Amino acid sequence: MTDRYVVIGNPIAHSKSPQIHAQFASQTGQAMSYERLLAPLDGFVGTVQRFIDSGGRGANVTLPFKLEAFALANQLSPRAQAAGAVNTLIFDGGRILGDNTDGLGLVRDMQANAGIAIANQRVLLLGAGGASQGVIQPLLEQSPRSITISNRTLSKAQDLVKQFAHPALQACALDALGEAYDIVINATSAGLSGELLPLPAKVFGVGSFAYDMIYAAQPTTFMQFAQRQGASTRDGLGMLVEQAAASFYLWRGVQPDTAPVYDSLRAQS
Ligand code: ATR
Repeated sequence: MTDRYVVIGNPIAHSKSPQIHAQFASQTGQAMSYERLLAPLDGFVGTVQRFIDSGGRGANVTLPFKLEAFALANQLSPRAQAAGAVNTLIFDGGRILGDNTDGLGLVRDMQANAGIAIANQRVLLLGAGGASQGVIQPLLEQSPRSITISNRTLSKAQDLVKQFAHPALQACALDALGEAYDIVINATSAGLSGELLPLPAKVFGVGSFAYDMIYAAQPTTFMQFAQRQGASTRDGLGMLVEQAAASFYLWRGVQPDTAPVYDSLRAQS
C-alpha cells in the first residue's frame, strides 16, 4: 500500500514540494505519493481531518496555515514550540504530531551547502514575522556570537528578543544599524513585491554573507543590493529543499540526497 502525503496551502498550485518529494522517494525507493491539497481559507482543519480519515500519513503545511497547524497538533516538537508554527504534520494512530523543519533547512543550507559556519559569527536577522521566528532557535543552537533582530516595526523585534530571552539576542531599529555583520539573513516578505528594505549599506562588508529566504530565477533585490556592497549571496531555494528533506526524514526515517534535487530545481528556474 502506498503511503500518502500532501502539502496543504492556499494558494498551492505553485508549490514545488511534490516534485521535490517525488525525487526523494524515487532516490530512496520509498513507496509513497505526495500531492498538492488546496484548503479553503476557512477550512484548514476540515481538510486535514478528511485527509486523515482517508488514510493520509503526513502533510507539509504552507501559507497561510502554519499557525492553524500549530493549534491543531496534539503534540508539538520543541522546535515547533520555539517557532510558534508548524510546517510538518505526522498522523500517527489518531494523534497529530506537529514539527517545524524550516529553521533546520536554513541552517543546513547555509552550513552544509554554502559552507558558511554560524558559530561565533555576528548575525543580522531582518524581519520579525513568522519566517523570522521560525529560524531563531535553530540559529541559536549553532552558537553565533550574536543575533541582532531588526525590523520595520521595532517593537516586534523587541518582542521576539524578550520571548527567546537568550543572551546572544538583541533588537535594533533598521535605521540604527551602524556596523557590518558576518551574516545577514532576509526573513522579511518585502522582496516578494520587489521592494527593497530601508537597510543601511554598511551592514554588508566585503566578507559578509547575505542570505535571502525567498528565491527566484534571478538574484533578488536584496541579493543585488548586498552584492553591490561586496557581499557573497545565496537565495532560499536550498532552504526549501533542505526543509523538505528534514520532513521526509521525519516521515520515512531515511535521509535523502538533496544536491541533485537542488540542481534540477535550479536548472528549471
Ligand atoms: P512571514 O510569515 O513571511 O514572516 P509576516 O509574519 O507577515 O510574514 O512578516 C512579514 C515581515 O516582513 C515583517 O517583519 C514585516 O515588517 P513589519 O513587522 O514592520 O510589518 C516585513 N516586511 C514586509 N514588507 C516590508 C517592507 N516593504 N519593508 C520592510 N519590511 C517589510
